[in-house]
Amino acid sequence: MSTSTPRTSAQNAAQELIARSNRLGADPKNTNYAGGNTSAKGTETDPVTGEPVELVWVKGSGGDLGTLTESGLAVLRLDRMRALVDVYPGVEREDEMVAAFDYCLHGKGGAAPSIDTAMHGLVDAAHVDHLHPDSGIAIATAADGEALTKQIFGDQVVWVPWRRPGFQLGLDIAEIKRQNPQAVGCILGGHGITAWGETSEEAEKSSLWIIDTAAAYIAEHSKAEPFGPALEGYAALPDAERRAKAAALAPTIRGIASADRPMVGHFTDSDAVLDFLASAEHPRLAELGTSCPDHFLRTKVKPLVLDLPAGASVEDSIARLKELAVTYREDYQAYYDRHATPESPAIRGKDPLIVLVPGVGMFSFGKDKQTARVAGEFYVNAINVMRGAEGLSTYAPIDESEKFRIEYWALEEAKLQRMPKPKPLATRVALVTGAASGIGKATAQKLAAEGACVVIADLSLEKAIEAAAELGSTDVAVGVQVDVSNADAVQAAVDAAVLAFGGVDLIVNNAGLSLSRSLLETTEKDWDLQHDVMAKGSFLVSKATAKVMIEQELGGDIVYISSKNSIFAGPNNVAYGAAKADQAHQVRLLAAELGEHGIKVNGVNPDGVVQGSGIFASGWGANRAAVYGVEEKDLGKFYAQRTILKREVLPENIANAVFVLCTSDLSHTTGLHIPVDAGVAAAFLR
Ligand SMILES: NC(=O)c1ccc[n+]([C@@H]2O[C@H](COP(=O)([O-])OP(=O)(O)OC[C@H]3O[C@@H](n4cnc5c(N)ncnc54)[C@H](O)[C@@H]3O)[C@@H](O)[C@H]2O)c1
Ligand SMILES: [Zn+2]
Repeated sequence: MSTSTPRTSAQNAAQELIARSNRLGADPKNTNYAGGNTSAKGTETDPVTGEPVELVWVKGSGGDLGTLTESGLAVLRLDRMRALVDVYPGVEREDEMVAAFDYCLHGKGGAAPSIDTAMHGLVDAAHVDHLHPDSGIAIATAADGEALTKQIFGDQVVWVPWRRPGFQLGLDIAEIKRQNPQAVGCILGGHGITAWGETSEEAEKSSLWIIDTAAAYIAEHSKAEPFGPALEGYAALPDAERRAKAAALAPTIRGIASADRPMVGHFTDSDAVLDFLASAEHPRLAELGTSCPDHFLRTKVKPLVLDLPAGASVEDSIARLKELAVTYREDYQAYYDRHATPESPAIRGKDPLIVLVPGVGMFSFGKDKQTARVAGEFYVNAINVMRGAEGLSTYAPIDESEKFRIEYWALEEAKLQRMPKPKPLATRVALVTGAASGIGKATAQKLAAEGACVVIADLSLEKAIEAAAELGSTDVAVGVQVDVSNADAVQAAVDAAVLAFGGVDLIVNNAGLSLSRSLLETTEKDWDLQHDVMAKGSFLVSKATAKVMIEQELGGDIVYISSKNSIFAGPNNVAYGAAKADQAHQVRLLAAELGEHGIKVNGVNPDGVVQGSGIFASGWGANRAAVYGVEEKDLGKFYAQRTILKREVLPENIANAVFVLCTSDLSHTTGLHIPVDAGVAAAFLR
């Protein structure tokens, strides 16, 4: 093997590589999320010998080019990598070489070498990029991709027939580079592109030139309607109608996607998706499935496509989706059976990960929101690829048997097995009312920390969004506006929750307020407000969300933040205490009614939570302090002294109780109230 390539000094090589990778990864036209990898070669002094040692820095397994840092790089010795060629046992056993990469590592730390490491180490160029651009994959999946490559790029870019990524593909590309010294890269059939250069700038230039030249060629030469003529009745519904239909279908679709295991959902109604579904060829193309090796685990080989026009009613759509789900699962089992060998990993679930609804959009699914969102992004990549390939030629993805070899690749299975155990509330979508403050906010924090996706619903949209942002990105939590006493507002908030995460599973009826007034001072308006927000509000929220949960067929939890005052009788509390008693009885009534759907309904009875509570800050605290004859600032301590345990109750204590009620540890408990009051004998339940 040649070792003539000039090498950059070590620090520069890694730094330039990271900067180039971040630039390439920042633009979605260049590669899909977490797709592709890059490398640089350079020389460093070996601390063992004091001699120069040739190294390759290559993006390791996992992570995304756009956010790559030094810890995402694997560093390998080139002399040892090149020596692997002599022990390579042939393509049937190429997977063994991945373990051998570990014996080429230089120093400690860094990422695990990925399957693509061979391509980077073996190709004799100082800088190598391997990317999955839509424009490049369009050429790579065109039926006459080889001829198109020649026509578009002349002898500058070489066609490499499809081969599953691995050591042999690395050897193939290295050989092509040797045979074609004029070439700056290649199109990898059915897969993507690889480009190289002797400097980092040169490699980046080669990559971008291939990507942009392919895109320009497609733009110039594509036929007018790559997806065929418009399909009568399949055009996108108007915005409001589309979103309403999406929200109405979402729970059923999430149920379909979660038949084998619960999934989080993501909804996309971008023009790319709606245009695809509005065109005549979409059923044929969807059936052909995706192509890039990154896709199969994320999107499955093909989506489930509803074969009804945009105007079909929600009822008809649901009925048809349920039929199609049965067929989808049978087809998937048949696909597995056609290709599985005794060594294949077990079937991983037969449900679709992508569901397409003409006129409405795309639902994508995953084990968490980020995975669901990225699955949707990948299918949009696939649509772009199909548009390009059909525009120039015919879309011809890799064979089904090769798709299976990737989806059920032993190396991929091993990666899945190494994944950390999911958190207790993973895949669960929680909606917490009044979660911009106090107990609700602490509860939202706890549920998110335990793995749930959280919808923060509160009166002020701004505060709801602010509280959600404190929990993380919109993959973790979103804020929505709601006045729980208004049925339309509640439905709108539930729709927003369903469109954000695919459905809902865990409801916390927490919104509330408190006016401390004696019977004679309590006005009719006071009474109505307390009852509208707490008694009626939680009824409305339970009603709208139970409908979603019943349609999903995934069970669920409804938790009421009631109060010690639901059973305890004290002065100046008639409206609040009566509304709390109403909520407490809703727990028992709904536990009895919803149990047949696997929905558990429980309550928490807090008392004396002063810290963080808006209720206490806005007058109730001053009032209670006056009633008990203490200073307002000492109210928390006063309450603590009143308790059996002499402990102050904090918002986190309530949040923990909600969490416990919703874990599998209490899977057989419904209709229960848990007091979280540090012990108040007068409020003991019996
Ligand atoms: N703090 C306590 O000691 C205590 C004791 C027992 C029960 N609780 C109950 O706990 C719940 C939360 O109380 P907190 O102390 O955290 O109060 P808080 O005032 O800090 O939070 C209540 C939240 O509910 C929201 N809200 C009010 N009306 C709403 C409406 N119509 N629609 C949507 N959101 C609305 C508010 O904007 C606020 O963000 C209440 O139901 C309360 O009755 C509190
Ligand atoms: Zn690739």
